[in-house]
Amino acid sequence: MNFNKKTVFVTGAAVGIGRAVAIKFAQGGANLVLTDINMEALERVEKEAAVYTKNILTFQCDVSDEERVYTVVKEAENEFGKIDILVNNAALWRCCAPFTDTSTDEWRKFFDVNIMGVVYCTKAVLSKMIENGYGRVINVASVAGVYGNANMVHYSATKGALISMTKALAKEVADKGVLVNCVSPGSVSPSENQDMNYFEKSELSFMGRTGTDIENANLICFLASDEASYISGQNIQIDGCRKKQ
Ligand SMILES: NC(=O)c1ccc[n+]([C@@H]2O[C@H](COP(=O)([O-])OP(=O)(O)OC[C@H]3O[C@@H](n4cnc5c(N)ncnc54)[C@H](O)[C@@H]3O)[C@@H](O)[C@H]2O)c1
Repeated sequence: MNFNKKTVFVTGAAVGIGRAVAIKFAQGGANLVLTDINMEALERVEKEAAVYTKNILTFQCDVSDEERVYTVVKEAENEFGKIDILVNNAALWRCCAPFTDTSTDEWRKFFDVNIMGVVYCTKAVLSKMIENGYGRVINVASVAGVYGNANMVHYSATKGALISMTKALAKEVADKGVLVNCVSPGSVSPSENQDMNYFEKSELSFMGRTGTDIENANLICFLASDEASYISGQNIQIDGCRKKQ
């Protein structure tokens, strides 16, 4: 896939799916704007990506900090002129507690990052995309947002909201050259594993394994590419044929 002269803004790019997305866009020749709260890991990704592209900016940026998101986008636009592709990947998801044990503060924290973070990043880039008549927004949701995961009620709710936000926004901007889609991974290999092709056995999919970071990146980058020019408003599950929960 060719992303020459395209600028991509990836949130949560330090590990896991976000890291694989960053590397794949770099291989396609994109200018990269990589953000995360974990600067140490992000700098490692920057070094990996630099093998393929020299145009990389990294920023420490908490997506739930609206002001910081706007500052980062402004600095990136000053450097690269525009942002063509936004991948809203950063999220909180590691949680396992029944609804009755989940505090309202925890609910707010998950919505602040998983939903308001997406709102801030999308607001920061969308007007210029519309002005340019070109843009791609890819949101990373989850099968939890489709089926609902027990003991992850608040997480499931954020991802369900993200899927419907994707569909609604896509309709507003489809005739302006901006395509908005969502991907919903099932079980993904642990982010800590440096091998982007690594998978483990998983009983949650009929394929019997987890999805790799690179498999997820392949789908995200395809949706961002010019080959996907007639796809918008979709939520595409990437789950190895999930056994529905
Ligand atoms: N891993 C899975 O099994 C799985 C399954 C379904 C969906 N997903 C979704 O895929 C996406 C990526 O998950 P993953 O498991 O690859 O990565 P991960 O959860 O291991 O890492 C996410 C990255 O986001 C960063 N991050 C967290 N909070 C942030 C914030 N407030 N601002 C900026 N960055 C922040 C983290 O530092 C980290 O680098 C998430 O949206 C997640 O919900 C993951």
